[in-house]
Amino acid sequence: EKIAVLYGGHSAERDVSLKSGQAVAKGLQAAGFNVVLIDTKAMPLAELLNSNIDRVFIALHGRGGEDGCLQGALEYSNIPYTGSNVLGSSLSMDKVRSKQVFKACDLPTAAFFVVNKVDFEQLSLADILADLGGRVMVKPANEGSSIGMAQAKSVEQLHNALIEAFGFDDQVLLEAWIDGPEYTVAILGDKALPVIHMQTPREFYDYEAKYQSNSTQYHCPCGLSDDDENEVKALAVKAFNATGAKGWGRVDIMRNSAGQWQILEVNTVPGMTETSLVPKAANVFGLNFSELVTQILLLSVK
Ligand code: DAL
Ligand code: MG
Repeated sequence: EKIAVLYGGHSAERDVSLKSGQAVAKGLQAAGFNVVLIDTKAMPLAELLNSNIDRVFIALHGRGGEDGCLQGALEYSNIPYTGSNVLGSSLSMDKVRSKQVFKACDLPTAAFFVVNKVDFEQLSLADILADLGGRVMVKPANEGSSIGMAQAKSVEQLHNALIEAFGFDDQVLLEAWIDGPEYTVAILGDKALPVIHMQTPREFYDYEAKYQSNSTQYHCPCGLSDDDENEVKALAVKAFNATGAKGWGRVDIMRNSAGQWQILEVNTVPGMTETSLVPKAANVFGLNFSELVTQILLLSVK
């Protein structure tokens, strides 16, 4: 069986994906699979779909690779692939629709407001900021790795952050600031792996904290009581199911100072770089990187 690991691509997370793809290919090769590593930026989709590929491991992050587009093309071509299907991928990629679904499913998520590029100049940013508690995270609706994100505590900061975020997407999510630590829950099959607590001296867990800084601390075991850890794992599985995600992924969650969990989002192709979270959680669970990617691949066999 010939396995194509798709990586790179055109999204703003290309650099992250280049690292994820290389690591995944190496891990699959170590497990004895026949692997070809393909940068989708260098190979047109039509050529890819017509090459002799039996199965695809998707290591693309962000738009085009993680958002359902590629998944649809692969479905149409009868090529099995790892992870979520079209619906789960596209819904999870969109932070606005994800939060609407979490709310509809009674899953806890912070208050939010949606701003569209076309009419944002007409809004009263002061009122919106006040409604959301005076401090917000500004997030392009369809991005990853914290790209285009900023916090805002004043109308001027909010205005500037919106202009920046609209460089990445026409729709932007304003989320009430969560005054507490961030956790993440890796999902493999229908199981939640050990929870990780991320700690950064920066204002939030941004791109630099994720990939460039050596001052970010990862705690796994995460320091929660067994009951609390089980509670957050159960919430993560519910959020994962709510967006229709499948196979594997990672759910990011924060806990505010009142002790309430607040679901941020579901990632359907989480990072698989050397500093990435899913491999860390798998390791604590007892799976090395090669065993982890093998399991993800085998979950795509229906
Ligand atoms: N979007 C990045 C790759 C992550 O979730 O890990
Ligand atoms: Mg994400």
